[in-house]
Amino acid sequence: MDSQLSDVKSALSQFCSPLVVNRVVDLLQRKESTKLEWSKIKAIPKSEVPEYSSLSDVTADEIESFSKKFAVLKLNGGLGTSMGLQGPKSIIEVKDGKSYLDILFEQIRLFNKAHNCSIPLIFMNSFNTEAQTKEIVSKNPDIDVICFNQHMFPRLDAQTLLPIAKSNNDPPSCFYPPGHGDLYDSLNETGTLSLLRSKGIEYVFISNIDNLGATIDIRVLAHLIKTKGEVLLELTPKTPADAKGGTVVKYTDDNKSRFRLVDTAMVPTEHQNEFKTVRTFPLCSTNNLWINLAFLESRLQQNTVSLDVIQNPKTVDGRKVLQLETACGAIVGLADELRLISVPRSRFIPTKSCSDLFLIRSNVYQFIDGELVVNPQRSITQLPTLFMGGVCATIQTMQDACPVVPDLLEAESVNIVGNVRIGKNVSFRGNVVVCADDASVLFIPDGSILDNVVVRGHLTV
Ligand code: UTP
Repeated sequence: MDSQLSDVKSALSQFCSPLVVNRVVDLLQRKESTKLEWSKIKAIPKSEVPEYSSLSDVTADEIESFSKKFAVLKLNGGLGTSMGLQGPKSIIEVKDGKSYLDILFEQIRLFNKAHNCSIPLIFMNSFNTEAQTKEIVSKNPDIDVICFNQHMFPRLDAQTLLPIAKSNNDPPSCFYPPGHGDLYDSLNETGTLSLLRSKGIEYVFISNIDNLGATIDIRVLAHLIKTKGEVLLELTPKTPADAKGGTVVKYTDDNKSRFRLVDTAMVPTEHQNEFKTVRTFPLCSTNNLWINLAFLESRLQQNTVSLDVIQNPKTVDGRKVLQLETACGAIVGLADELRLISVPRSRFIPTKSCSDLFLIRSNVYQFIDGELVVNPQRSITQLPTLFMGGVCATIQTMQDACPVVPDLLEAESVNIVGNVRIGKNVSFRGNVVVCADDASVLFIPDGSILDNVVVRGHLTV
């Protein structure tokens, strides 16, 4: 391994900065040692995580004082490849003609107005998302925005571990943003952390750009402040739809027990099913993180923000490559004063797939005071489960097959198989299965009401 590492190092040094070379080599060196040993994991019972509803109320004075101390940071470096996107997810239309960025700007604007403050809004972009994000930022000059870029790492050949690029002029597909755990170093090295400190900012609220439930909540911040916490992570009751997410566990190594974030990609194949069960791991991470910047600053100064390595094997242009990444939630393992809380699902509305987007666009959700909430007219507590098959393969297929999202207010589950087209003003109620015969199109005519039915065939209009 040592000689292989030195070959990798010299290949990287041809075109990468010494900082990037050192980081990549560090990830390579730690990729085996940070692997999980399944037997050392213990799930955290729901009963050990305080419920959001148990947090104390905040007074108007506290809201005023705390509002001046924090910034909102959105993780905006990913491309949303699982939704088939080539550009930033944040600029696509989510609902009512608004993109994630539009919704966010509106929320910050409303908060600033209500509390007479000017919350700094920070975007961590990557080389993939910077230009398009900045274009939209420039159209919102009333908001105090800070943009910085995370690092650009070279993709490595899965076998030789040598970079697939030979120079910085090689195509972007030879590079990748190394996960949202890159946040801490990037905040520091771009000077953003010192800028925030110079503005008197003491805390930062970090969340995924595609989590429409990640809104400012001073009660959560107040809990961190009042309990003198260093890091607070919001967990939420897991549902079968959260297959991709991570969770926090107790990890016992050398008789020492600590909290550890476990991402799906870190779980050995033979334990994947167990990891995904709600029974054993009842809570999942929302990636809504609140961090005390004094704590972060001191850890960065001590050079101790070393996060678990996530190995992400991919095929790029027909070639097997290895991406080494880190996750920002892994900071839970470094905090002496960690606060975990269990928040309602309303704080976790991610868009990981086109069927998530389909649901958000439907009348199951609506905006109230700038926030996306479940339509109060929906009487069923659970969200409908959608299995949309090829209809939701990409945003384009979704829009082609279903230009007007059906009424899902009374839907419990919708299962679509095959080449199905959905007309206008269609309602799905209860449990509905729609299945097109092989190689044919099944058209659901305008105005249809499908109530607890199974529809098969190749209807056309
Ligand atoms: P994820 O990687 O978990 O999900 O990123 P995703 O963006 O939906 O990506 P795909 O579909 O799996 O490819 C969670 C959040 O972290 C950001 C993303 O933009 C998203 O908001 N992120 C991810 C970064 O900022 N940098 C990265 O390197 C990776």
